[in-house]
Amino acid sequence: MIFSCVDYDYTLSQGDKLLALIRRIFHNSPEFRHDSLKHVARYAPYIPFFGAKANLSNSLQRVVSFADHSNSLYFGNPIILAAGANKTAKRIADYANLGFGGITVGTATRNKREGNTHKPRIGFLEEDRAIHNSMGLNNEGVDVIAKRVDEQLIHAHKKGLCVGVSVAETPGLTDENDKIQDILDCFTRAYKAGDYIEINVSCPNTGENRLDLDTRFFETIFSEIMHLRNTLGVRKAVFAKLSPDLSLSGLQTLLDVVSRYGVNGVVLGNTYPTAKMESLPVNATWDSLTTLRADGDKGGLSGRPLYENMFQNVAFVRKNYPHLKVMACGGIDHGYKIFDLLQLGVCAVQCYSVVAFRWMAAHAMRRELLAALQGNGYKSLRDYDVAY
Ligand SMILES: Cc1cc2nc3c(=O)[nH]c(=O)nc-3n(C[C@H](O)[C@H](O)[C@H](O)COP(=O)(O)O)c2cc1C
Repeated sequence: MIFSCVDYDYTLSQGDKLLALIRRIFHNSPEFRHDSLKHVARYAPYIPFFGAKANLSNSLQRVVSFADHSNSLYFGNPIILAAGANKTAKRIADYANLGFGGITVGTATRNKREGNTHKPRIGFLEEDRAIHNSMGLNNEGVDVIAKRVDEQLIHAHKKGLCVGVSVAETPGLTDENDKIQDILDCFTRAYKAGDYIEINVSCPNTGENRLDLDTRFFETIFSEIMHLRNTLGVRKAVFAKLSPDLSLSGLQTLLDVVSRYGVNGVVLGNTYPTAKMESLPVNATWDSLTTLRADGDKGGLSGRPLYENMFQNVAFVRKNYPHLKVMACGGIDHGYKIFDLLQLGVCAVQCYSVVAFRWMAAHAMRRELLAALQGNGYKSLRDYDVAY
């Protein structure tokens, strides 16, 4: 197992420069740029020089199996588009055109939410290739989202996409029983639809205390969710999405809890609270960031600066909690990074910010990952998996 983190970088292509130009042109409309991903996913295959088509070759396919016999997950490749990029669950299969082998839709809450009202809710740190956001879990509610997933799942599978649904508790509830009922209702609805479920306990953008900072309630939530999961006919994998800013002892406490209740794995991690961003290798200062909330908050940071911290967290979990599946998430922007993470033992990776900075990012990373595998003597990811 390797433990040193290498921050591989890519040379800017013409496409990356075009993306930079588009970011500059629309610098006053960051949410418009954010939303335009769905149009790129839909129409790019029709534009010849975009090179955007679902890749159904089996060179990077990965099957993730679980010791507790939860349904195996079939990824067209181990690069998943992280939660937040497709919050509506509309036109899921289009995202295969961008090169992804999986997608987590949502985050969904029990009922529709507008999210934070302050605008803008997204800002860019150009020099750091990073984004900060404070969307505040805007979504149409789990019933709408789960119905869409249900209707499209077979089509998405045909395009090589494994589909997870991310759920979170409704911010603002005060009564503990209401909170538990809320997340269980949300979970049950999402569970019927997705291939796997991600419990987002680490959103820094709702103005509420994050669930992963309240160990006692975190334990209650996961004991209830897993108890419910175990009574359901079909067994699907459940992941907890944790924050990247936890101390190692804080992380350990939560990992002990998820292990105790049989949670299948963790997504490491969510956005990094900008209030603490000086612990990351960032050029921008907190003062220079756009204010994203009425209370002066500047949201959570995503993108390249998160990578090293995430890598260390993943290495820690793989070494000390080898029974937990790990989806690595945070600053992944190169296929060689994905190869290193696979060597650490992650089952898949998730990424999001890179699509704003790298032209057809998942396609580029797929090519790099395949080159890394072949450079190390493996013809395919399957070949690699057989060897390990
Ligand atoms: C605009 C935006 C919206 C996001 N919304 C969600 C969300 O609804 N649920 C969630 O679990 N994570 C959300 N995230 C976090 C991402 O899923 C991911 O964990 C984070 O951006 C780190 O990955 P990256 O560095 O590859 O972007 C969001 C991130 C961004 C930039």
